[in-house]
Amino acid sequence: MDAARASCRRLAPTLLYAVCMAPRYASRIVRREARHAAGLAAPFLSPSATVLDVGCGEGYVGAELAELGATVMLTDIVDVRRCPSLPFQLYDGRHLPYATHAFDMVMLNFVLHHVPNEDKAALLGEAARVSRRWLFILEDTPRNALDRLMGDRHGRRFRAKIGSSASFGFLTSGEWEWLFRGLGLVIRNVRALGRFCRAPWQPYARSAFVLEVPA
Ligand SMILES: C[S@@+](CC[C@H](N)C(=O)[O-])C[C@H]1O[C@@H](n2cnc3c(N)ncnc32)[C@H](O)[C@@H]1O
Repeated sequence: MDAARASCRRLAPTLLYAVCMAPRYASRIVRREARHAAGLAAPFLSPSATVLDVGCGEGYVGAELAELGATVMLTDIVDVRRCPSLPFQLYDGRHLPYATHAFDMVMLNFVLHHVPNEDKAALLGEAARVSRRWLFILEDTPRNALDRLMGDRHGRRFRAKIGSSASFGFLTSGEWEWLFRGLGLVIRNVRALGRFCRAPWQPYARSAFVLEVPA
């Protein structure tokens, strides 16, 4: 009896985490995608780094980085979280409600294409303001007609979902680099990702950008 009680006590925190705090992945592929994204960002983080995930969606990437030891804050223009253990704040899509230099890294993963072209620079400026050092960006970066067509469909669907008629815009890797440089950000790493790094039925061109905010 005592042994049973002791194992219950030992297992309680794990069970509590699994029931209340662990990310609720929609599928194994989604988990793989989140781990892939977190794995690309992780080499630029110290073990106790602070990270802001802007446009966090479900929050999976942040949750994976938190598992690795980072202190993660989530923010988005909608609340569709499935990672209840992480702090979250809604914001207006333009002004990040955080102090200047508040985080070691600010991430925008597959977010900027949803932002109207005329607002992209301002949001990047906000991300640079609240970052002490790194901006980490994942983007669909079309290289052919199919990439463009599917990007356009995705952009339209998102606009319909949130009931907005604002524009959106997918840029090529070179166009993003031009924008980042124009904003004074230092490009430390640009990586073209394999077309099959995410769901195999979405074999689109994508890139990872690591930018340093000048001191
Ligand atoms: C394709 S989802 C990506 C979610 C998450 N970053 C990921 O990689 O799993 C795009 C997200 O961008 C968010 N978004 C769109 N416009 C935004 C804006 N102006 N600021 C912040 N997030 C925005 C959407 O609400 C959505 O959660």
